[in-house]
Amino acid sequence: MRLLITGVSGLLGINLALETKRMHDVIGVDRGKLKSAPFRVLHANLLRSGSINSILDSTQPAWFINCAAMANLEECERDPNQARILNAEIPAEMADACAKRNIKFVHLSTDAVFDGTKDGAYSEDEAPNPLGVYAQTKLEGERAVLSANPQAIVARVNFFGWSLGGRRSLGEFFVNNLSEGKNVNGFTDVIFCPMWVNHLSQGLIAMIEKDLRGLYHVVGAQAMSKYQFGVEVARKFGLRESLIEPQSVERSSLTAPRSHNLWLSVHKLSTDLGGEIPAFSTGLDGFYTQFQQGYPQKIRGYQQ
Ligand SMILES: NC(=O)c1ccc[n+]([C@@H]2O[C@H](COP(=O)([O-])OP(=O)(O)OC[C@H]3O[C@@H](n4cnc5c(N)ncnc54)[C@H](OP(=O)(O)O)[C@@H]3O)[C@@H](O)[C@H]2O)c1
Repeated sequence: MRLLITGVSGLLGINLALETKRMHDVIGVDRGKLKSAPFRVLHANLLRSGSINSILDSTQPAWFINCAAMANLEECERDPNQARILNAEIPAEMADACAKRNIKFVHLSTDAVFDGTKDGAYSEDEAPNPLGVYAQTKLEGERAVLSANPQAIVARVNFFGWSLGGRRSLGEFFVNNLSEGKNVNGFTDVIFCPMWVNHLSQGLIAMIEKDLRGLYHVVGAQAMSKYQFGVEVARKFGLRESLIEPQSVERSSLTAPRSHNLWLSVHKLSTDLGGEIPAFSTGLDGFYTQFQQGYPQKIRGYQQ
């Protein structure tokens, strides 16, 4: 199938493109970073009026996965207007354009739409209460997408993997710093469900192939603190876990409001896909195998 991926230079976009290009005709859209990717790339700024219709008309995909966003929480607090445009208005425009052309549309949202006051996992039918600009605009995006295109998939995610810039994911943060012998903080009071980006990519394709629609939690099946995640990464990579200082996120230099509980239930997803969500340890193994095989350097090379 022809698969269009916007935000293909991002953490999800690049890994999704590489994971799916063996089976599908992948066309990525970026703003000019990718110079030598092993799939077709179009350069476009999605903020330019008419760009979405023009991309869809020239590429005619069967499926479209939107990985473009303003995904940095602090940046969203600084520029809420731009965050709203990228995280809500543009996705709504994409969803509408896909509905008119009968293109299957997938939009990515976040595990951060809840306020985190619950003790336990959140399901899709619980009421969100976003705490900051990023989460607010992502929630607006979810609602706008599903109202413009009820056949669309909206996936609330959280994932780790190797990125083009080498610094986008929490997994990279721990590997980079611990490899250099640096002390880092690991938050003990933020619970989340990390999923290896390749498992997420496979899951999104499986959801499209099963013709799922609507809102889904697509995260790892195992909840853990960010500190615990760091420890697991350190153990897998043979790095010193004692360099990770257990700390509260409230004592960090991060200023955007953050939920302490990002634990999402994947019951709906596993029921509708008819299978287990891959184990965290399998994803961590995959992340480590990529490292051993030089995958981080390989993808960074696509910028030259
Ligand atoms: N990372 C996570 O664990 C996580 C957690 C929850 C939700 N999500 C969601 O998952 C999705 C993917 O996240 P990510 O971590 O892969 O994000 P990312 O690494 O920040 O990538 C964002 C992408 O959007 C592109 N973009 C931004 N503005 C654009 C514009 N005006 N025109 C064209 N492209 C533009 C960026 O291009 P440039 O490279 O040129 O800047 C980049 O390719 C997002 O919807 C995010 O909210 C991610």
